[in-house]
Amino acid sequence: MSTDTLNALVPPGASTTDRDWWRQAVVYQVYPRSFADGNGDGIGDLTGLRSRVPYLTELGIDAVWLSPFYPSALADGGYDVADYRDVDPRIGTLEDFDGLVAALHAEGIRLIVDIVPNHSSDQHPWFQEALASPRGSAARERYIFRDGKGEDGELPPADWPSTFGGPGWTRVADGQWYLHTFAKEQPDWNWDNPEVREDFLTTLRFWADRGVDGFRVDVAQLLVKDLPAELPSWDELQAMDADHGTHPLQDRDELQDVYAQWREVFEEYDTPRVAVAEAHVSTPERRARYASSASLGQAFNFDLMWADFDASSFRSVVEADLEQSARTGSSSTWVLSNHDATRHATRYGLPPAADTGRKAGTAWMLEGAPRAGVDLQLGTRRARAATLFLLGLPGSAYLYQGEELGLHEVGDIPADARQDPAFLRCVETQEWSHDGLGRDGCRVPLPWTSEGPSFGFGTGSAHLPQPAWFAQYSVEAEQADPGSTLSLYRRALRLRHKLQTSETLEWLETGHEDVLRFRRPNGWEIVTNFGTEPVALPTGQFVLASDPIEDQLPGATTVWLRSES
Ligand code: BGC
Repeated sequence: MSTDTLNALVPPGASTTDRDWWRQAVVYQVYPRSFADGNGDGIGDLTGLRSRVPYLTELGIDAVWLSPFYPSALADGGYDVADYRDVDPRIGTLEDFDGLVAALHAEGIRLIVDIVPNHSSDQHPWFQEALASPRGSAARERYIFRDGKGEDGELPPADWPSTFGGPGWTRVADGQWYLHTFAKEQPDWNWDNPEVREDFLTTLRFWADRGVDGFRVDVAQLLVKDLPAELPSWDELQAMDADHGTHPLQDRDELQDVYAQWREVFEEYDTPRVAVAEAHVSTPERRARYASSASLGQAFNFDLMWADFDASSFRSVVEADLEQSARTGSSSTWVLSNHDATRHATRYGLPPAADTGRKAGTAWMLEGAPRAGVDLQLGTRRARAATLFLLGLPGSAYLYQGEELGLHEVGDIPADARQDPAFLRCVETQEWSHDGLGRDGCRVPLPWTSEGPSFGFGTGSAHLPQPAWFAQYSVEAEQADPGSTLSLYRRALRLRHKLQTSETLEWLETGHEDVLRFRRPNGWEIVTNFGTEPVALPTGQFVLASDPIEDQLPGATTVWLRSES
């Protein structure tokens, strides 16, 4: 298929002027190796995904965000990219990709792909070239190589740890060291190098030319670094101010020059391509820089994901973010789950983070037995209520595959079946480790049917083991049940379009500190009872509820009402 033909495949009904399609979109994240396996090799692929486009249509989403599908040695679930402009042969081909774009666009669903610009895979041809080239060569300049310390350079240039545990510098055969913020198989690019910058522009155009509608930018706050000859120690780095764009390793002001260039590329297209930054920064003000229309345009707000199921936490996150979005001209991004976090149905079944000392959001607690301390029923109920609250908000909603089934985290994956470097490497450090278990538990392949090998994920077994209880969460089981979480998501997403006439809300008094209530300009009210005791239901015509209600609003329940005034 020619590029011209591909460009012509814009979603039906989408005019070339609807450059704001993303502002209130529902974006569904597909982690491709765990979504649907079309060829029975146990790994999800593009053919499998394409065969499930009718499911996505029926669900009622506006866009798919596809996590990395590029050739990769899978040291970090595909976030170690060996070739930015190809498809992993285990996942498919470029032609399969083109077919997927066409199939989604034919249904009016946009496609956002993941771009991983801070680091490549150590299998990337440029890293291999760097290894084969001498110190100081142009090939080494594309990455961050340094001589070591100590008499023979046998000590790393600095004592920095990697995010997944262990040292952040690794020594190569000729004695130099390279920096890797993440696993040692993920060397950091040198963003001071014009060739690196240019190559990413080529990558963005490559996918945009194939009809991709936008990009999710991985760890967007890293990339550009300021590394003096004498590197600071880790303790010194930790003590440095990260709020003013001058920290040596993160969120530097010059980073915005990179994204301004990317913006020029996005604007070359009609409709302009969009982007959303995964930017872990210190303040909402810093996040706003990534969300500006001169930069990436939107930035994830993970604050709801880190919040306990609690009325005042939810309200303050929403207020702060709406205000910030209004100031930058962007729109809010609401997220409860993704491929890096413990599924929210499970998180909400745990005691509050503050009472347990666990890290909020990275919520899995496993004291010897899988799922110890988790109230699954309560978690499910709260998850449904939180989702309906989130879907009632102005802004875009990012959903993670399987949350529409109400899936829980899988806690009991045997250690030898686990794949996540955050598990495999954090044994030493216990840092960024989701309490020691890593992120595999939210990446287990989806159950499509209640029986059969891998519950309909594929024709063979799945690359991560699925628990027996997945049967009751399968698409097949849930679509037959009007009370299922899947049925709730389908109804909510269908109705949500009626809320998207404007991007504002008005808070209403409830008289209960556990209850939040807001009205949208179309007259609908969203009321959530975060507490345990039932409260009186505001008057209004019933639209939808997260669980059955009668004359009162029970605890852990959200209702959508059409106001009578
Ligand atoms: C991605 C992770 C990944 C890391 C390194 C993140 O923020 O979401 O899954 O491990 O970046 O690429």
